[in-house]
Amino acid sequence: MKICIDCDDAAVCLKQVIFDHLKSRGMDITDLDYAKDKENPFYGEIGFNLAKAMQAGLYDRGILICGTGLGMAMIANKVEGVFAGTCHDVFSAERLKKSNDANVLTMGARVIGPELAKMIVDAWLNSEFAGGGSTAKVDQLKTLEHQSFHPNR
Ligand code: RB5
Repeated sequence: MKICIDCDDAAVCLKQVIFDHLKSRGMDITDLDYAKDKENPFYGEIGFNLAKAMQAGLYDRGILICGTGLGMAMIANKVEGVFAGTCHDVFSAERLKKSNDANVLTMGARVIGPELAKMIVDAWLNSEFAGGGSTAKVDQLKTLEHQSFHPNR
């Protein structure tokens, strides 16, 4: 599984914690580090950059961290093919994949601490879409997404 991660200035420390944690688990993780060589970009640009990489099929899962996780989720969800959700508990993180089949997880570094963040990331990455009764619901999300991005088709 190929994973990418990025953050804004509010979450530099937590991004490093998560990156190191997943590396130590032997996972294939890339830090997109959009802010490198740029002058303090806002979360919108950073989240959009990761979401475009997901849309291009370069990664299977993406992790975005800002102060609250909210702005990152909002912008990531503006990119077709990206389904992002903010999680600050383990149960939601598991459901985000099993029920909603989200390919991007967002978290807030000003909301949770590093140990909980690691547990949330693990729960999400260890989960797969459960299918079953959730399949029709997720298919509907994709149909509605298509209507939104391609209103005349
Ligand atoms: C700080 O820029 C803060 O607005 C950001 O990190 C994030 O919480 C936005 O949703």
